[in-house]
Amino acid sequence: MRVLVTGARGKVGVAAVSELGRAGHEVIASDLGPPDSALPPGAAHYIQSDLTDAGSADAVVRGMDAVVHAAAIPVPIHHPPHVLFANNVMAAFNVVEACVRWQVPRLVNLSSETVTGFIFAERPFLPPYLPIDEHTPAAPQDPYGFGKLVIEQWCDAAVARSELSVVSLRPSWVQRDAEDYERNLGHLVRDPFQPSLGFWSYTDNQDLAVAIRLAAEVALSGHEVVYVAQPDNATTHELGDLVARAFPGANIEVRDAPPAAGGGPPRSGIDSSKARRLLGWSATRSWRDVLDEDGRLRVAQARRG
Ligand SMILES: NC(=O)c1ccc[n+]([C@@H]2O[C@H](COP(=O)([O-])OP(=O)(O)OC[C@H]3O[C@@H](n4cnc5c(N)ncnc54)[C@H](O)[C@@H]3O)[C@@H](O)[C@H]2O)c1
Repeated sequence: MRVLVTGARGKVGVAAVSELGRAGHEVIASDLGPPDSALPPGAAHYIQSDLTDAGSADAVVRGMDAVVHAAAIPVPIHHPPHVLFANNVMAAFNVVEACVRWQVPRLVNLSSETVTGFIFAERPFLPPYLPIDEHTPAAPQDPYGFGKLVIEQWCDAAVARSELSVVSLRPSWVQRDAEDYERNLGHLVRDPFQPSLGFWSYTDNQDLAVAIRLAAEVALSGHEVVYVAQPDNATTHELGDLVARAFPGANIEVRDAPPAAGGGPPRSGIDSSKARRLLGWSATRSWRDVLDEDGRLRVAQARRG
């Protein structure tokens, strides 16, 4: 397929370009930055574009068999709210409109776990049950999560009025490399009973890239929303123990896990079974590959030793 990846120079975009290229797709990469001599690995071509401009979105989307939309400001803490909301929602709106107009069969929309609203809430609230799944109510209070919800709703509208099909992936916190794992998850491993509004979940960037490729390739119609997170949590403790100690007295039902063959590590606060069922996705990595049980880099340990 001829696949456009937007946000191709970002954390998720780079991995998606490389995974799609490896699988034999012709990948067109696009981002805000100027072209330079080095194409992102896996890309056949690079186009500079600001997708908040409808004409640019129209031009880059035309002629594609699939579009992976990863361009966005990925957290609501470094920009004024209206800047973030306008950028993310307008860029996605234009990409969706262009997909409909040019009859692109498939859009993979990078949404987010933050649609539920827990992570960036000004007035914190908790889910009725864990693990979170696609039936958990969405009630974002912040411009990032709210923007992602609006974009998902615009995808609903797009599939209702065209032949476009959309997979909206909701990754949890994405970890790119060993340093990311240590910086972001090391403290959770060491201090697991602090309240975690991501519910101790995380997503590996390489595994996410595979989910993105599968979402571009799988045969389906309509709009499917799918969580993508590693099956284990970022601690050595069971989810029920974490909830009981981090949120004492909270009314959160921790639902039974299907029995895992051979036990398996403690499970995540996000349920990715729909990704397995719908996309055939399975995680291949864990924080345990790079961090020890004290949350420190295994390679650093080896180097010291
Ligand atoms: N990183 C995470 O933990 C995480 C978790 C869940 C969802 N997501 C989503 O995944 C996607 C990718 O996130 P990331 O971590 O790679 O972020 P990133 O900041 O590393 O990359 C995003 C890229 O989008 C580009 N971009 C932003 N606005 C643009 C515009 N108007 N036009 C064209 N390009 C634009 C940026 O230049 C950047 O290269 C985003 O939609 C983000 O919301 C990320």
